[in-house]
Amino acid sequence: MLQSEQVVVGNRLLDYIDTKTTALGAEIYEQPVSEYICERQAEIEKNLFFRSQLLCLGLSARLPHAGSFMTDSLSGVPILLTRDSQNKVHGFLNVCRHRGSAVAKDGGKARSFVCPYHAWTYDLHGNLIARPQDSAFGGMPRETHGLTRLPVIEQDGLLWVCPSPDQSVDIGQKLNGIAGELAAYNLASFHHFDSYIIRRQMNWKLVVDTFLESYHFCVLHKDSICPIFYDNLSTFDTWGENFRLVSARRTINELRAYNKSDWNILSHIVGIYVLFPNTVLVWQLDHVEAWHIYPCTDDPERSVVRMDLYTPEPAETEKTKQYWKKNLDLVVGVVEEEDFPVGETIQRGFHSQAQSHITFGTNEPALTHFHRCLTQAVQAAANAG
Ligand code: FES
Ligand SMILES: [Fe+2]
Repeated sequence: MLQSEQVVVGNRLLDYIDTKTTALGAEIYEQPVSEYICERQAEIEKNLFFRSQLLCLGLSARLPHAGSFMTDSLSGVPILLTRDSQNKVHGFLNVCRHRGSAVAKDGGKARSFVCPYHAWTYDLHGNLIARPQDSAFGGMPRETHGLTRLPVIEQDGLLWVCPSPDQSVDIGQKLNGIAGELAAYNLASFHHFDSYIIRRQMNWKLVVDTFLESYHFCVLHKDSICPIFYDNLSTFDTWGENFRLVSARRTINELRAYNKSDWNILSHIVGIYVLFPNTVLVWQLDHVEAWHIYPCTDDPERSVVRMDLYTPEPAETEKTKQYWKKNLDLVVGVVEEEDFPVGETIQRGFHSQAQSHITFGTNEPALTHFHRCLTQAVQAAANAG
């Protein structure tokens, strides 16, 4: 966040503390329950958001060196990203051009990928460089049997890939003006500490909803988050479909003693950025969490979440490793033991016929914005198709 923006946000948060209020939307929003359980809706969302658009796969630190590679199939599409010797990132379908096995597993460093089935071998550019019994495939030039390329973009420390080959992508349109705000964090300088995968009996949108209000802090999190953060107190700003909530730590009152030109609010806030629709970047005191939230392809009522913790310095000593591990355990503990168990009761309740809609109050403007944007995107796709 730029310093000038920190002053704006800091002022707003202190004003909300003084006036005991929060960012308010214009109206109450009624969100249909059916959108969390409907298989047809899930199919539309899969094709619209998880097949034909750019997906954020994390910070550049997931490919830290020349020769690094990573695989990711949480979207339902097997993806391989590599960083070549010139530090350029390439994206491929992780599918062997012989009979379709995955050629790479997990992540790390490599010079080439040897398919585990019959050893067709590909380089970091996806070229097919070796093929046992080559003469048996004589009519099939190796040049045309490299890995299938995917559109990929690395910008301001974020990795983006489109899971469909031949799709035209536009990162400017995707970021919709939020690039400058994100660039101020210098995400390219961060280091990947560790990752955590969560599978839950919740529609993927319900997982995103978890992050979109501070109204529950002192009820659900009365012993964990409430002592540290103000309750029901957040700023809310949008960049097209993307948006940001900032909630205040109770330490933010220390700012009152300083000239605004000297303010650094980052150690007094949690900043939640939703890169629409399924990536939630969280600035947390002194580090970044990235949450990547996907529907399970065979069940609209299940989701899979990957959370990566990124640190400003590499965790090289036992002491720093302990420090970041404690941070990771803390956040995972809160969502796994407090947020998501409630989310699963919500998902089950959707089938009870208690109500056709759930309600977002005017104090939950981010929820309203998120679901309005989803509805508009789905309707626009239906009109176009
Ligand atoms: S499937 Fe990859 S070499 Fe046969
Ligand atoms: Fe929560």
